Amino acid sequence: MAKINFTYLPGDGIGPEVGGAAINVLKAVSSKFGHNLEIEQHLIGGAAIDVLGKPLPAETFESCKRTGAILLGAVGGPKWDHLKGAERPELGSLLPLRKKLNLYANIRPCKPYDELISRSPLKHERIVGTDFIVMRELTGGIYFGKKGRDSSGAFDECRYSKKEIERITIKAFDLARQRKKKVTSVDKSNVLETSRLWRETVTEVSERYNDVKVEHLLIDAMTMHMLTDSQNFDVILTENMFGDILTDEASVLTGSMGVIPSASISDGNVGMYEPIHGSAPDISGQNKANPLAMILSAAWMLRLSFDMDTEASSIESAVKLALTENQTTADLGGPLSTQQVGSWIAKYVQN
Ligand code: NAD
Ligand code: IPM
Ligand code: MN
Repeated sequence: MAKINFTYLPGDGIGPEVGGAAINVLKAVSSKFGHNLEIEQHLIGGAAIDVLGKPLPAETFESCKRTGAILLGAVGGPKWDHLKGAERPELGSLLPLRKKLNLYANIRPCKPYDELISRSPLKHERIVGTDFIVMRELTGGIYFGKKGRDSSGAFDECRYSKKEIERITIKAFDLARQRKKKVTSVDKSNVLETSRLWRETVTEVSERYNDVKVEHLLIDAMTMHMLTDSQNFDVILTENMFGDILTDEASVLTGSMGVIPSASISDGNVGMYEPIHGSAPDISGQNKANPLAMILSAAWMLRLSFDMDTEASSIESAVKLALTENQTTADLGGPLSTQQVGSWIAKYVQN
């Protein structure tokens, strides 16, 4: 009997709603495949501030370190927007968790489901055949530089070490080698010094990968190309903030924010899995958030942290079938609630 021991952090807003659906599915998978599910549930973000007075309580962090496999909903929301700096859910929990666990590689896929092409505002021919992965650097750049205020204004410093750029670049090229053998590196090297170092370093590393094609694009042009020539991309390599922005844009290709999962990994086998969307305060508490991104993140956790490829694939097949049969939430045009989508997928996986 294999053990699936992980830390579950529902967080804020729709986090607990989509999280509940994913846990339901994980229970079904465990029972179907005869695994022992051990869930360590902890508070994070605004929910932790409300109960324990801080966004990343020690027991939450200890559990993450111990299990090394984390499934996270989302953090943040209007209730905590008045807080400053590291008192905030985002800066005080999510970023330190990523940094302390050295989760420098954030992988976000964009492979639109055929069933959802009509949900996108883009033309069919712009989307069909799209299949790329964004390799986003997650523990450096402007997110983690010195920030503050002075008498005249405010500042956020953006720094990258060569080593930080090298290690994420290696991850991107290794991934491209297993795929369509192309890396598109995105920067702003016409203006930023960190981007000049980025481009130089990517060029250097690319020389070790003669079988992988490399191209460089500026971020402003990339925001256009992503929607006009999305089929041309394989692995998109970029720094922290550009990767954040580009992946929300990618959700226009997939038809909803609610279907893109993500994995944040390091050199060892520690991993954090979360949807790319946030806590969606505009729809939280209504049982209508789309849980598919969270359910797919749980599938990735099984595959990457527990080496359970068959189990992960069984979830992915069930998600695909839910789309084919329109067993989805309103953002995808379906009639179901968050909870009902979770139960439908759980039931399908179990049988
Ligand atoms: P958001 O991703 O929460 O929502 C953007 C839009 O997409 C909203 O209209 C929302 O209703 C919709 N949406 C998002 N997820 C959906 C889902 N699963 N199903 C259906 N519709 C969905 O972004 P935002 O509104 O800019 O941010 C809200 C809060 O979430 C902020 O406090 C932000 O800091 C936080 N946030 C957290 C994370 C995270 O924890 N990883 C990620 C992004 C944003
Ligand atoms: C994401 C989120 C986070 C980020 C925020 C909440 C700090 O937008 O995971 O995409 O910018 O990384
Ligand atoms: Mn984001």
